[in-house]
Amino acid sequence: MKLTFLGHSALLIEEGNFKGLVDPFISGNPSCKIRVDDLTGISHIFVTHGHGDHMGDTIDIARKNQSLIITNFEISNYLSRLKLRTHAMHIGGRTKFDFGRVKMTSALHGSGISDGDNMLCGGNPGGFVIELGGKKVYHAGDTGLTYDMKLLEDEKIDVAFLPIGGNYTMDIDDAVKACDFIKAKIVVPMHYNTFGLISADPQIFKNKAPSEVVILDVNETMIV
Ligand code: NI
Ligand code: MN
Repeated sequence: MKLTFLGHSALLIEEGNFKGLVDPFISGNPSCKIRVDDLTGISHIFVTHGHGDHMGDTIDIARKNQSLIITNFEISNYLSRLKLRTHAMHIGGRTKFDFGRVKMTSALHGSGISDGDNMLCGGNPGGFVIELGGKKVYHAGDTGLTYDMKLLEDEKIDVAFLPIGGNYTMDIDDAVKACDFIKAKIVVPMHYNTFGLISADPQIFKNKAPSEVVILDVNETMIV
């Protein structure tokens, strides 16, 4: 499995014919180094919650690639009305797809969808455990530290993407505790340094964390 970090919380997962994006915040993302048009053959898009820095370019990419969008029921409903292909899930649910299995996990956060002057209901925020090619990837989305993460230990996660930037999510010290709960083989920090409010030094996280931490640069790929 090939994992490419696209900056902020955007992740590209590739395995055979499967090309999945998680939280594709591309065009408005100051840390992202690619353009929406560089993304081709995207089969699936996972959206953890309704905030703009996660929903990002989902609509545009899904239209161009006819991708299937996997997200919570409320966001799925919103995107279906735009004539996009969606698969609605919800927190705690696990489903089999042709590529593998997906479980939606809880997140302590918000999920409102900004729509012009309005804030639409985006349901509950979540994260995903994505299982394919015999590997399990956990993308936490935006979340504060929760004791529920302890339950993820049983999932035997291969790679966990955890936010460390603070202010809106866990900071480094809380993410260190999350590592201890989850016990993933490898942890990759995300959601930091995109904006001033979420400044964090991933090297400090790496030094403190009880797991193996791999710091991915923007556009860097790791093979697991
Ligand atoms: Ni958010
Ligand atoms: Mn965010």
